[in-house]
Amino acid sequence: MRERTVLITGASGEIGQALIKSLSDDELTTLVTVDLKPLPGELKGKSTHIIGDLLDKELLSLLEKEYSFNLIFHLAAVLSTTAEHNPLLAHKINTCSTIDLLEMATRQSQNQANPVKFLFPSSIAVYGLPDLETKNQFPALKECDWTEPTTMYGCSKLYCEKVGIYYSEYYQQLADLEPVRLDFRALRFPGIISAFTIPSGGTSDFGPEMIHFAAQGKPYDCFVRADVRIPFMVMPDAVQSLLMLADAPKDKLQTRIYNVTSFSFSAQDFKDLAQKHFPGSKINFIPDPKRQAIVDSWPADIDDSAARNDWNWKPEYDAQTASQEYLLKNISKLYKL
Ligand code: SER
Repeated sequence: MRERTVLITGASGEIGQALIKSLSDDELTTLVTVDLKPLPGELKGKSTHIIGDLLDKELLSLLEKEYSFNLIFHLAAVLSTTAEHNPLLAHKINTCSTIDLLEMATRQSQNQANPVKFLFPSSIAVYGLPDLETKNQFPALKECDWTEPTTMYGCSKLYCEKVGIYYSEYYQQLADLEPVRLDFRALRFPGIISAFTIPSGGTSDFGPEMIHFAAQGKPYDCFVRADVRIPFMVMPDAVQSLLMLADAPKDKLQTRIYNVTSFSFSAQDFKDLAQKHFPGSKINFIPDPKRQAIVDSWPADIDDSAARNDWNWKPEYDAQTASQEYLLKNISKLYKL
């Protein structure tokens, strides 16, 4: 393998931390990470970490001057619940920073005469089903179905997918000479569950929050109904899917936007799991109608057959092994149970 320089934005977030762990052992990778926050102690020294705001133009020009990136994981984002409280901030972080990085990656692709790979985590939030009847009628959405987001987060993810395709396929399409364009690839993630970190600011958070609270013996008031169902995957599979898509040969990709998932769980499934393994857990369903409405607009499951066919995607964990072998084992260690 050739030496490469990799940028991770939003590196102190849940996916960022897990991605750093998997990339930092590779001696041929120079890892540069950016976040508003420092990295947690155990990740210090695993990358050149820059604390800064991606909306700060000076930070971006410093990155562009100092490094020549081959691969960018642009993970920084304001998640769905936080975005509803501050849509303009979400617009700036989720879309403006993406455009600025796409511009930077485009210039670097041209300077290197080689496409910079730009990996982007999109989300089930790009989907928007109008009501529960329709949600039941369409149990597993394909990439082209129902892309009618009802949240600022979903709108911004969908927009970034579109401009990512634009920068990869059509950028400077009227120029006499075809320019070297970047290579944008996006994954539509389901809710992601980490055994080591607790999510914040998202609306799929009820699942992982419930398990982490139960493991710590804390009561949990679930903000959605028991019957609410959306797709999930565990963090090692999320990281693996990003790495697999980054490595997939370009001629195998029939699209730049792929669903990936592992299993579909209801809030009741999480409660059953928590109560089985942490007996005595106190979990109540006290739905917040507004957050509930967001989750109701998301699909019960997504169809990831395009990823399976094009680049052999297959999650390592299913519902059973995700719970037993990854989640409960590691959470028990984390909270010293
Ligand atoms: N986890 C995200 C959220 O809840 C959805 O992709 O905002």
